[in-house]
Amino acid sequence: MEPLALDDHERIVFFTGAGLSAASGVPTYRGRGGIWHQYDYGTYACQRAFDADPAKVWDFHDIRRGAVAAVEPNEAHRIIARVQAARAGVSIVTQNIDGLQQRAGGVDVIELHGSLWRVRCDCPDSPQEDRTCPVEARRCARCGAWRRPDIVWFEDPMPVAPIERAMDALLDCDVLLSIGTSGVVYPAAQMPQAAKAAGARLLEINPEATPVSGWYDTRLRCEAVEALRDLFPDFADAGPAGS
Ligand code: APR
Repeated sequence: MEPLALDDHERIVFFTGAGLSAASGVPTYRGRGGIWHQYDYGTYACQRAFDADPAKVWDFHDIRRGAVAAVEPNEAHRIIARVQAARAGVSIVTQNIDGLQQRAGGVDVIELHGSLWRVRCDCPDSPQEDRTCPVEARRCARCGAWRRPDIVWFEDPMPVAPIERAMDALLDCDVLLSIGTSGVVYPAAQMPQAAKAAGARLLEINPEATPVSGWYDTRLRCEAVEALRDLFPDFADAGPAGS
């Protein structure tokens, strides 16, 4: 793959999924060893399950917090953060809740599905960042209610603000790079199509084909680190920006 000529693109969107964090050792959801093969999200990751047994849901989320806290961002996260730092007009829209893109230096990351590192209750200053691991306060000290992970679980309504911010970026970009997403969870899965309809060029980075691969102008059937090294060689760990 030829490098992406940054000067030819005024506005770039990195649209990322769990595959971006795979190289860090964070399991994806649906691939081999995926989280949903081990855990039924209806038992561990939805409001009904939380209402029925909040401690069980917290036990699952503490396992995930521990797994993410134990790993580091990988070179793909770093390349994206370096490109964003090097020029204006770069937006990062992620479905990931692991916070690894921010730990790699990404800023203003639009988290469509919330974050493992935020919790919420009905208090006015909710949600709050909470990086304790395992989480120290499962109940709010003020209102006494169970605090729940500020994650968009299945059956949850999608939060409007991140969707609006993401759509602003997608409808205004020249190129969208979709990295490591299976394209099966809506509304996120159809968002790149809106960028295409607005005139953007679409690249898919995924070792496997997805149900939305047909929308893409270019499909790179390789892992995120390899593709991003080729597309942004100056921003790789071994490149001038990474050394
Ligand atoms: N580089 C690039 N892509 C990869 C890599 C890699 N190293 N490893 C795996 N992939 C690809 C897989 O082929 C798969 O298509 O990443 C994709 C991961 O798909 P999912 O596990 O379904 O993750 P994602 O698309 O982010 O899931 C979307 O579903 O469960 C919900 O809310 C959760 O945000 C999540 C949403």
